[in-house]
Amino acid sequence: MSEVRLVGISKQYEGARADRPALERLDLTIPSGALVVLVGPSGCGKSTTLRIVAGLEEPTTGQVLVDGRDVTHVAPAQRDIAMVFQSYALYPHMTVFENLAFALRIRKLPDAEIRRRVEEVARSLAIESYLERRPKALSGGQRQRVAIGRAVVRNPKVFLFDEPLSNLDAKLRGDMRREIARIHQESRTTAMYVTHDQVEAMTLADHIVVLKDGLIQQVGSPMDIYDAPANRFVAGFFGTPSMNFLPAQAERVDGHLRVRGSGFELPIDDAGHAGDVTVGIRPERLTLDERPSTVPLAARVGMREMLGAEVVLHLESPAGDLTVRADARAGARPGDALTVWLDPRAVHLFDAGTEQRL
Ligand SMILES: Nc1ncnc2c1ncn2[C@@H]1O[C@H](COP(=O)(O)OP(=O)(O)OP(=O)(O)O)[C@@H](O)[C@H]1O
Ligand SMILES: [Mg+2]
Repeated sequence: MSEVRLVGISKQYEGARADRPALERLDLTIPSGALVVLVGPSGCGKSTTLRIVAGLEEPTTGQVLVDGRDVTHVAPAQRDIAMVFQSYALYPHMTVFENLAFALRIRKLPDAEIRRRVEEVARSLAIESYLERRPKALSGGQRQRVAIGRAVVRNPKVFLFDEPLSNLDAKLRGDMRREIARIHQESRTTAMYVTHDQVEAMTLADHIVVLKDGLIQQVGSPMDIYDAPANRFVAGFFGTPSMNFLPAQAERVDGHLRVRGSGFELPIDDAGHAGDVTVGIRPERLTLDERPSTVPLAARVGMREMLGAEVVLHLESPAGDLTVRADARAGARPGDALTVWLDPRAVHLFDAGTEQRL
């Protein structure tokens, strides 16, 4: 088990705009044995971060430490870090067995030991019956298992995964996600996992790191990130459908806040911050019936999306467009007028200017 630390990492690619570095003074500690997921939109710097840890890219400034040792200028092969790519990157002319054995042969392990380790990993990933095939004779899911097996068999200090599942269909992606979680639980090898899929991040991570434009937005447990997003971007990134955002003004009254938007008024039990705010409320926290201490907002149903057990209602209101997740038995139909109820305790407040959580 190994701790990975990134200290003041910046990356300015040659030829790229100087005012838009791929990473800007990134500080991050991956605790020994943790599975940390880096998540964020395309181009935010996820792959760059992993490639710097792997040694495939040099940072412009900053240091990479593994167990306290500075490896910033150490060659990838000397770092004992295994990376799994979205593209699998298997050796096409080698059998699955030889793909799995490759790193062990370089280390000159005895043949019997290599065979034992390859077979053990192949069994755990259910690819033992393909060991004599070439990668091109495998399905995408089987190839991805080989790519993961090739990392696991090395028993490295650190695993790096760069969107390893994004070429797989939804069902297989779910299966492989659980497989990766199991491998991590068994080996407790420190791992960094990159995805732009918020569900993958939520379900896999011990800690989530949210990146945007090369800057860390928030680091926290999945629960922290969901329940207390640091800013409007993080709030909107996690959850489907996305959090609703309504413009409002906050005013201090008797040590409390009165938050007023078009068509609603929320008493918030917090001395908080007065001025222009954005009210955030998740679609599952809006209700179609009055509950203790909820406040009303008049709305009209625009669209109804059936999800099976639930429906998503798209509403128009004076405060802006809203989505609500409701029981599928809710009878609301397009064109209906109804009242949605806002629970002040379920509301997130963001500064309208800085977009930071208040
Ligand atoms: N070799 C390169 N040369 C110049 N710019 C690059 C290079 N590689 C990446 N970039 C730029 O650096 C930024 C970060 O790229 P990176 O590949 O790390 O993003 P990402 O978060 O992995 O995105 P995606 O989700 O699309 O894979 C992007 O703006 C990208 O265009
Ligand atoms: Mg990438």
